[in-house]
This record gives sequence, structure tokens and C-alpha cells, in this order.
Amino acid sequence: EKGTYPHYMLKEIDEQPLVMRKIVQAYQNESNDLTIDPSIVGALNEADRIYIIACGTSYHAGLVGKQFIEKMAKIPVEVHVASEFSYNMPLLSENPLFVFISQSGETADSRSVLVQIKEQGYKALTITNVPGSTLSREANYTLLLHAGPEIAVASTKAYTAQIAVLAILANVTGRSKGIEMEFDLVQDLGIVANAMEVLCDKKEEMEEVARQFLSTTRNCFFIGRAVDFYVGLEGALKLKEISYIQAEGFAGGELKHGTIALIEEGTPVVALATQESVNLSIRGNVKEVVARGANPCIISMKGLEEEDDSFVIPEVNELLTPLISVVPLQLLAYYAALHRDCDVDKPRNLAKSVTVE
Ligand code: F6R
Repeated sequence: EKGTYPHYMLKEIDEQPLVMRKIVQAYQNESNDLTIDPSIVGALNEADRIYIIACGTSYHAGLVGKQFIEKMAKIPVEVHVASEFSYNMPLLSENPLFVFISQSGETADSRSVLVQIKEQGYKALTITNVPGSTLSREANYTLLLHAGPEIAVASTKAYTAQIAVLAILANVTGRSKGIEMEFDLVQDLGIVANAMEVLCDKKEEMEEVARQFLSTTRNCFFIGRAVDFYVGLEGALKLKEISYIQAEGFAGGELKHGTIALIEEGTPVVALATQESVNLSIRGNVKEVVARGANPCIISMKGLEEEDDSFVIPEVNELLTPLISVVPLQLLAYYAALHRDCDVDKPRNLAKSVTVE
């Protein structure tokens, strides 16, 4: 039930700190170390390449997951949109492992790939929020998200849960191979949960940002580099699906290769700046759009912030920034939709689980 909340989406955004803590608990052993079923860790370690298959928001979580698995477990990863993969299968490696990411576990496009790769004798792991769902039953292994039921059509807490579970999977797999981690993931996910709480308490500020940048606009761009690019894709999807504002996320460096032609006087451009290594270059991209009249909404991480930034998120482990930089983007989409009288929880033309191909 949504209780005192006006919408499930807002309730589910607010549940994210709790979900982070639940996930850590669910994947801890008696000595509080993170743990994953050894047969799953074994399957990852046997693979020479991992293929992540998903749709929509879950695909965006997969893009972040690729970074985790490559950085922490040193296994190459490809991420594919399920509907494309099924008729345009890439040349596979010798020992692939397939990882399906699906909140509902019922998405037909993903299931169709699962059926295909099983026919070819390959193994699959499903990461899902729904125990006993089709994708979970039909895969060799399952990891659960522990996010609790997600009712709003626009996915929020399932996205951050997917990212947290992928981080734990990558971390445990890396450690099983003796790869040294310079950080304590349990502690860092705790810091993330606290940071999410801080952000959830800043709703009024985000409502104001939404009013300032999105109340009358036809379109909106999201730019970022490295992992901020992937979070920008998710921010754009959230905004378009519930507020019907045409939104596009792209890599900061791609601006000059075409999209900059669309920047007009007052076009809102949301820029994410959470990564030290690309901070200067994304700031450069902001200058490029501002010079063409854009209205820049910069969301930066503490330590990298500059005077005119619209919103500053607390500092967390640089690998884990997607877990918190997405929260203001979820709120931005929520308030933009609210200000436009859109049906936040049930946007037009969309269903919660897409069970047709
Ligand atoms: C967007 C959204 C969709 C789903 C997609 C996959 O907010 O919810 O893009 O992420 O339909 O659904 P699952 O994860 O259930 O396979």
C-alpha cells in the first residue's frame, strides 16, 4: 500500500536506502562478509566472457554492472538489449555466461533470448525481484533483488537494487580469485544508504529544480561521461516515460558530433559530474552548450562541485555514484510529471511488465 504517499513512485524512491540495507543483510554471512552462492561465483569464474541481457531500465543497470564486473572481477562483459540480441546475436566467446537482469522476471524479449541460449547449451543467471518468476525458473541460477514489490510503472528502487546486487556479485567474484579490493563494499553501501537518505530529504529542492528547468520545456538533454553517461540514459528514460518531455541521454564527447545542433536558447541540459577523471571534460561540454544558449542543470558530487551547480550529492565511493546520482534524476522526473499533471504511476501506453515481444 502507498500509505500517506501520493504516488507509489515517490514511496519507492524513498524506500531505496532501506533496500540498500536489506540487500547487504541478505548477502552477508554470519561473520558479516558478503557472500554469494559458490556455484554462481564458480560459473562467473569459468566464463571467459559475460553477456548481460536486459531491457529498458534493467539494461541501464547492466551497463553499470559491466563496469563492476570488469573492474572488480576482471572478466570481460558485453551488455545487450534483449530485443536486438535475439535476432542479431554477436559472435559468442568460447565459454560465455549469460546474466539476465529483469525486475519482473517476465519480460518476453529477455525470455526469448534465454530460450535461444539454453538451446545452444549455455548457462544463465537471472537477477530478478520476483522469486519464482519465469526468467528465474528457466535459468540455472538466480539472485534476488530484495527490493520488495515495485508497483509504479517507472522503475526506481529495482534499478538501484540491481546495481547494488551487481556490485556485490562482482566484488565477491573478484575476491574469490584473490583480487585485492581497496575498499570495504559493506561499509561503502552503508555510506550509499545514508547518502540516499540525505537526498530523499531534499525533495523540495529537487521540486524547485524541476520547476526551474522543466516546467515548460519541450525537450531536455542529459550528458555525462564514463558511468555518468549511463546514469544520464536512465535519467532521460525516467523523464520521458512519465512526463512525456522528449529527453535524450548521451556521452558528453558526442555532443559535437551532432546533437549540439539541437541546442537552442533555454534548452535544459542536465549534466552529471561525479567522476574526478572526467570532471574537466564534462565541464568543458557544459561550456559548449551554454555558449549556444542552453540552460545547464549541473548535478555534481561533493568535492567536485562548482559555484553554479544546481545540486550537489554527498560523496560516496566513485564506483558506486550511480546509486545516488540517479536519485535526483528520479525526483526530477517525478516532479516534472507532477507539474504537468501526468499520471505518474501509470503513464500512457506503458505496462509494468512487458510480456509480449
Ligand atoms: C522503465 C521501466 C522499463 C523496464 C523494462 C524491463 O522505468 O520500468 O524500461 O525496466 O521494461 O523490465 P524488467 O526489468 O521487468 O525486465
